[in-house]
Amino acid sequence: MYNIVKSAHSGWRYIVLILLVIAVINALSGWLGNKTYTEGNRKLNVFTLISVHIQLLIGLVLFALSPLTKLPMSTAIGRYFKAEHTSMMIIAIILITIGNAKSKKITEAVAKHRTIAVFFGLALILIMVAILLLVKDVPGRSFFGVS
Ligand code: HEM
Repeated sequence: MYNIVKSAHSGWRYIVLILLVIAVINALSGWLGNKTYTEGNRKLNVFTLISVHIQLLIGLVLFALSPLTKLPMSTAIGRYFKAEHTSMMIIAIILITIGNAKSKKITEAVAKHRTIAVFFGLALILIMVAILLLVKDVPGRSFFGVS
């Protein structure tokens, strides 16, 4: 069970990263290029939101199942999974949730794009940093790969 959930969480990162990168690029180009906010933009942002919420649910199950979250805080791996990974990823997910909700309330297209660009962009940076820390702290893990 643990291995299935771990592989699902590990593989789902690609869905999250691909959607998030495309959403940020679209939002930046909409914001800086004064473009209209299309139905396609809205759907992309909602799919990105759904993908991170799915990752959150898988992550919560994994938190309970993983032996790595039982390691003491005195170890780099224990600290990483108990504190750093969980908190950074949850903050990123909150940023995406707030960004999407705020952009829905705004009527002006460029402001909608700007809100998505800022909130999703910050979340993307946070997620990248968290994965880079994982590569640094946990032996045998890489930025790309599924374990
Ligand atoms: C956007 C959100 C997230 C992303 C992109 C993400 C990504 C990852 C990645 C890439 C790994 C390493 C997998 C591997 O090396 O094969 C991992 C492991 C892990 N994640 Fe996340 N994660 C996210 C959110 C969360 C959340 C919110 C939690 C907990 C509530 C969580 C708990 C864990 C745990 C416990 C592991 C260790 C699994 C193990 O090897 O035993 N993750 N995550």
